[in-house]
Amino acid sequence: MTTVATSPIAGQKPGTSGLRKKTPVFMGRHYLENFVQSVFDVVGAKDKTFVLGGDGRYFNDRAAQVILRMAAANGASRVIVGQGAILSTPAASHLIRLNRTDGGIIMSASHNPGGPEEDFGVKFNMPNGGPAPEGVTEAIYRRTTEISEYHIAEAQDVDLGAIGRHQLAGMVVDVVDPVADYAALMETLFDFPAIRAMFAGGFRMRMDSMCAVTGPYAVEILENRLGAAKGTVVNAMPLPDFGGMHPDPNPTWAKALMDEMFGPDAPDFGAASDGDGDRNMVVGRGVYVSPSDSLAVLAANAHLAPGYKGGLKGIARSMPTSAAADRVAEALGLHHYETPTGWKFFGNLLDAGRATICGEESFGTGSDHVREKDGLWAILLWLNILAVRRESVAQILHGHFRRYGRNYYSRHDFEAIPVEQADRMMEALRAALPGLKGRDFDGMVVTHADDFAYTDPVDGSVSTKQGVRVLFDGGSRAVFRLSGTGTEGATLRLYLERFVPGPDDLSDDPQAALAPVIRAAHAIAAIAAHTGRSLPDVVT
Ligand code: G1P
Ligand code: ZN
Repeated sequence: MTTVATSPIAGQKPGTSGLRKKTPVFMGRHYLENFVQSVFDVVGAKDKTFVLGGDGRYFNDRAAQVILRMAAANGASRVIVGQGAILSTPAASHLIRLNRTDGGIIMSASHNPGGPEEDFGVKFNMPNGGPAPEGVTEAIYRRTTEISEYHIAEAQDVDLGAIGRHQLAGMVVDVVDPVADYAALMETLFDFPAIRAMFAGGFRMRMDSMCAVTGPYAVEILENRLGAAKGTVVNAMPLPDFGGMHPDPNPTWAKALMDEMFGPDAPDFGAASDGDGDRNMVVGRGVYVSPSDSLAVLAANAHLAPGYKGGLKGIARSMPTSAAADRVAEALGLHHYETPTGWKFFGNLLDAGRATICGEESFGTGSDHVREKDGLWAILLWLNILAVRRESVAQILHGHFRRYGRNYYSRHDFEAIPVEQADRMMEALRAALPGLKGRDFDGMVVTHADDFAYTDPVDGSVSTKQGVRVLFDGGSRAVFRLSGTGTEGATLRLYLERFVPGPDDLSDDPQAALAPVIRAAHAIAAIAAHTGRSLPDVVT
């Protein structure tokens, strides 16, 4: 064992998704070591068992060896590692829970590009399988500001390619198949025979794993276990730079999938997942399913899957996500929860048994089977629903809108705004809130305006300033918030929603349907005056 003298490195502040930095920063002297030691100092490592894995991006393999040597030197008794240091984020969450471990370290920068000049990340998940809460990440951060030494074992690399038990400086390293336990969990939740029969009947699917971590999971589950045609999964090999792709499943970055699904020989169903496998996008033949609608459809039909046949305990969505899921909850007589942005707010509701299904507009859906959002889970639940209902995605979606009404929805992102401009805009908007009620913006009458605050119903903690909401007469809404995960300047996210109850008004152009809300939002926040921008950079 070696104890190495070190000193604090500025800016090692983990956000809601752990510590994310450019890869060369992480590879810098003592950088990874300081952060990992701070994690062990805060959560304790002596005689503990952890899970370790990552999304396979550049530096994943070497970082894993460092973390293992440090775990050994800090007295951990055992680490369970995915073969090749690979684990999707939801699979890591499952292993943490399944093995009743003391938590896990996940190496990922989610949907951010990977490579020598791109992004890397490390986060700690708790024994419940979910991301560390703010109290813990704050303590880790404080520790990084005072650290003076770290502990590391002098040892050779563990052969992470070889499944089985290894020893490292007195610590057990169990290298496990990254897919097996996760796939077994999926088999308990979904009607695999029904889905298999659907594929055997000629149902065609395209799954784009975007050269990221879900490749091996999707090939094993969809092709090997469910009998989807070979080649159903494309970009199935996880690559250190994701093949140069931006592994974020949305219509912009998964354009090849969108083109195929809207093309002449489109398969029945299309899906994509992100770098670490927690996000999903779902597309039908010629029809895009917005994440907010996906959440609502999944909640309304979950009982068709064996894992949810007893019904749901409740439904939770992040505040900027559309209210489509609320309408389902009301129809089912269930509690629905509106939480701030970020998956960690769902954890308490899931642990307390208050919610079963959760979702965010940012392509995240999941349930109480793990404590992370789960891309393949959402895709499999869709497949289960399609297999039981024997309808197309378009039919299911339109049936849903006819029954519950439609919440037209879109998110407009304005990226790389100078931080001072963005802050001034939000400040002016907050100051204007008290006078907004009753004002008429070209026919859009404001019924309520506030800065969203959330009191956790389980532990009573309060989170304020979670985004400005402006509600209009008739169920339309505009939400303004600044991104907490952007890396360059500030990103303004403008979330737009308009409710249409009738079945006759189902235009398939959300931007046109939302035009009055978009105009009102720009007028209220004076986006162009503050930032010089009148058009968004990314529309989802
Ligand atoms: C974004 C999404 C948010 C998600 C987070 C982590 O955060 O909007 O829903 O939980 O990434 O995946 P933001 O950049 O908006 O703070
Ligand atoms: Zn992710």
